[in-house]
Amino acid sequence: MISIVAVDQNWGIGYKNKLPWRIPGELAFFKKTTIGNTVIMGRKTLESLPGRKPLSNRRNIVLSRDTTRSELGVEFVSTIDDLFAITNDETVFVIGGEQIYRLLLPYCSKSYVTKVDGIYETDTFFPNLDMEDNWEVESSFDAVISENGIKYQIFIYRNTAIKYI
Ligand SMILES: NC(=O)c1ccc[n+]([C@@H]2O[C@H](COP(=O)([O-])OP(=O)(O)OC[C@H]3O[C@@H](n4cnc5c(N)ncnc54)[C@H](OP(=O)(O)O)[C@@H]3O)[C@@H](O)[C@H]2O)c1
Repeated sequence: MISIVAVDQNWGIGYKNKLPWRIPGELAFFKKTTIGNTVIMGRKTLESLPGRKPLSNRRNIVLSRDTTRSELGVEFVSTIDDLFAITNDETVFVIGGEQIYRLLLPYCSKSYVTKVDGIYETDTFFPNLDMEDNWEVESSFDAVISENGIKYQIFIYRNTAIKYI
């Protein structure tokens, strides 16, 4: 599994079930990276998507403890075991939010982290990988991109506790 996230300088990721920023280029990177693949998200993140609809051209799996949920284009699972039971060797992107990142980060071999310059009002967070023993920066996209006056840079972190890709 690979997690993909955008964080501010405090590793904040969301506010009132929305993204704290609007950065079209970052969303385009997210789309380009995940398109054609499987994504796993929490029920709240599903509800934060435009029109509360699953992401197009991706297999959408959503974690919820409510086993009665059903929605067109969404596969609901209520445990990690269920998730592993319905995914095979495909690349699964963990796309948030906080609860699901915390739950699945130990299973992620890599993390694509967009670091957004600045500190925003946030109520949800991603673990600070710079403070985690088993996470290290593998590479970064050289350019700091500036869009709508917001600067950001994309880093790829590697989980050294996982020996396979
Ligand atoms: N910056 C980014 O890259 C990024 C990416 C994604 C999301 N976000 C932001 O993150 C925020 C949402 O994060 P969040 O932590 O509040 O919610 P979340 O992780 O998206 O969803 C939480 C829900 O997932 C289900 N869940 C959690 N743990 C579970 C478990 N062990 N087993 C089964 N189901 C489980 C529960 O659904 P039920 O209540 O239905 O049981 C829970 O309410 C929003 O602000 C969103 O915009 C930011």
